[in-house]
Amino acid sequence: MTRVIIDCDPGHDDAIALVLAHRYAQVLGISTVSGNAPLSETTANALMVTALLDVDTPVHAGAARPLVGEPRHAQVVHGASGLDGVERIEHRRTVESLNAIEFLLDAPDKDVWIVAIGPLTNLALALERDPSWVRRIAGISIMGGSATVGNTTRVAEFNIFADPEAAARVFGAGAELRMCGLNLTHQLRTTDAIVSRLQSVGTARARFAAQVFDYLHLRMEDLIGEREAALHDPCAVLAVTHPELIEMEPRAVDVELEGTLTRGMTVVDQRSSRRQDPANASVAYRIDAHRAMDLVLECMA
Ligand code: RIB
Ligand code: CA
Repeated sequence: MTRVIIDCDPGHDDAIALVLAHRYAQVLGISTVSGNAPLSETTANALMVTALLDVDTPVHAGAARPLVGEPRHAQVVHGASGLDGVERIEHRRTVESLNAIEFLLDAPDKDVWIVAIGPLTNLALALERDPSWVRRIAGISIMGGSATVGNTTRVAEFNIFADPEAAARVFGAGAELRMCGLNLTHQLRTTDAIVSRLQSVGTARARFAAQVFDYLHLRMEDLIGEREAALHDPCAVLAVTHPELIEMEPRAVDVELEGTLTRGMTVVDQRSSRRQDPANASVAYRIDAHRAMDLVLECMA
């Protein structure tokens, strides 16, 4: 099994990504970051998911704010708790440490992938402490950015927009980097039919996933008039556990930091191959959504 560390901001789709990672990979640990909700909430949610899965994966709390500026959250989608609309699971779990950066720096091995599915603050702080870190891990797979449209602004995706300076540091670190942006993740979508299938499975995790998707559909109906939701974060897990499902291309990607309208945009060089700048990332363009959704449903059984 591929060995991974999940850096996340649970978050409804982060929670599903954690279920997938525990089913299809060996999860060495979880680091949490401020993002969808404040760090206290994302950390509590990560602990709750480990209780749901009945696993002893250590959870390390990380950065409570971005490198520059004030914390930004996505509570309009995920609610104040970061995981609204989901029945809370009672448990007695506590964090392993409050220093996710140290955990990230100490844990790796040449075969360990860092799957980062929230703002990239923790990874940037690790790189600040030890730039050689990227040579001690297999690579970094992120859900973040976009080769087309944004979601938080016209051109910026939330994870990047929440900490552009951190993202710029990660893209510039020389890591083996896989980028699952919105152009990809919008291809993997949940529907009410998926919720109905999950409700008939009968396991605690299937009931949990049904609640997660049902809540996301409620929010999407309210925000964009559609009862469907993109399953963003699971894509970054599948890019490591099932890379055969995702078509990626080498691309030069940089993060805009100055633009009034474009701050937080991942600027992907998509000119003809003979004119492109040297690639620093593998950008995902297509996913076998049918097979990917089968894998999501299989790990809920
Ligand atoms: O833009 C989608 C990303 O922002 C996902 O990681 C979701 O969990 C939110 O953090
Ligand atoms: Ca996330």
